[in-house]
Amino acid sequence: MTHRIAIIAGDGIGTEVMPEGIRALEATAKRFNIDLEFTTFEFGSCDYYLEHGKMLPDDWFEQLKGFDALFYGAVGWPDKVPDHISLWGSLLQFRRRFDQYINLRPCKLMPGIKSPLAGREPGDIDFYVVRENTEGEYSSVGGKMFEGTDREVVIQDTVMTRTGVDRVLKYAFELAQTRPRKKLTSATKSNGISITMPYWDERVVEMAKGYPEIAVDKFHIDILTANFVLHPDWFDVVVGSNLFGDILSDLGPACTGTIGIAPSANINPEGHFPSLFEPVHGSAPDIAGKGIANPIGQIWSGAMMLEHLGYKAAGDAMVTAIEEVLSEGDANVLTRDVGGQGTTESLGRAIAQQLAK
Ligand code: NAD
Ligand code: IPM
Ligand code: MN
Repeated sequence: MTHRIAIIAGDGIGTEVMPEGIRALEATAKRFNIDLEFTTFEFGSCDYYLEHGKMLPDDWFEQLKGFDALFYGAVGWPDKVPDHISLWGSLLQFRRRFDQYINLRPCKLMPGIKSPLAGREPGDIDFYVVRENTEGEYSSVGGKMFEGTDREVVIQDTVMTRTGVDRVLKYAFELAQTRPRKKLTSATKSNGISITMPYWDERVVEMAKGYPEIAVDKFHIDILTANFVLHPDWFDVVVGSNLFGDILSDLGPACTGTIGIAPSANINPEGHFPSLFEPVHGSAPDIAGKGIANPIGQIWSGAMMLEHLGYKAAGDAMVTAIEEVLSEGDANVLTRDVGGQGTTESLGRAIAQQLAK
């Protein structure tokens, strides 16, 4: 059975880490006898926008909906195109129109990587952020009034629907059930945000009734960020709204040494639409063009894609290969963010070679 994968590299380091993601996937596909067929698209990048005046062609939905998965690099180049235009014109459209309502983001301290948190070893940090991915604070409800006057008002409403909240909570509870610690933490701010966040809390309490074996706690987002740094070992599955999940899923990986390794899966669990796999990081204009970006976030996202397509052993093998290369700690291979002097390609090749063994 052929699995059709749409490739959109995007901007900046997205175009540099993508070839390493594909290299690792090809090595894994060969070893596990998986038939992957890649189709590359130029749209979804700021260069495409500069040429066409839009981030995506009008028929993008038709072009992409038949794929088994989308493999994305990173998008955004604020010097060329304002971020809200490039991101709302591409990635956020995919998440919403393909109803990828789960954004699953593992945070794991890997062997060979030094955590910036004193005394933390692999095993101390190993949790998932489950981020609501289609509504919440990322809503298009709102507007500008009295523009250009001193009465100017801007409003952007947070939208929480019962369906939207319950389905992400359900996913998080189900995930917690598969984990040895069976623990779920909810990110809230119901002390200050007095309508949507108490609603979120209520739905957590309601959902928890169906999962008596899960230990549930909640923290307001302010102290939760502090506890990520002070007590990362407390966390197992952390569920949050769109914005809170976004913030936690950069902070978590930073606690594991670098955001360059963090993967994500934007999932439509029912399989009505393709899911999208991409690193957590962005296009990193500050290091783009130098060939020094860490490709592990992209490669690990590929592992999540294979698992999603039904190849758990193959996905696990990719993560093991990443761990092995990091454990070897060869400074000529590793990129700078993890203490080496190597390149995107040297690290990508080492992982692909490990997979070919
Ligand atoms: P960023 O993630 O691109 O970079 C933040 C910092 O992390 C930079 O110092 C960068 O060099 C470093 N970094 C990121 N990825 C790395 C890697 N693989 N290896 C080593 N270092 C890495 O975030 P930003 O600077 O806020 O955003 C830059 C652009 O990317 C903006 O246009 C933003 O909107 C966009 N963005 C896109 C996505 C996405 O496509 N999913 C995610 C985040 C940001
Ligand atoms: C992410 C990114 C995006 C988000 C941006 C680029 C719109 O930060 O995938 O985490 O906020 O979701
Ligand atoms: Mn983010």
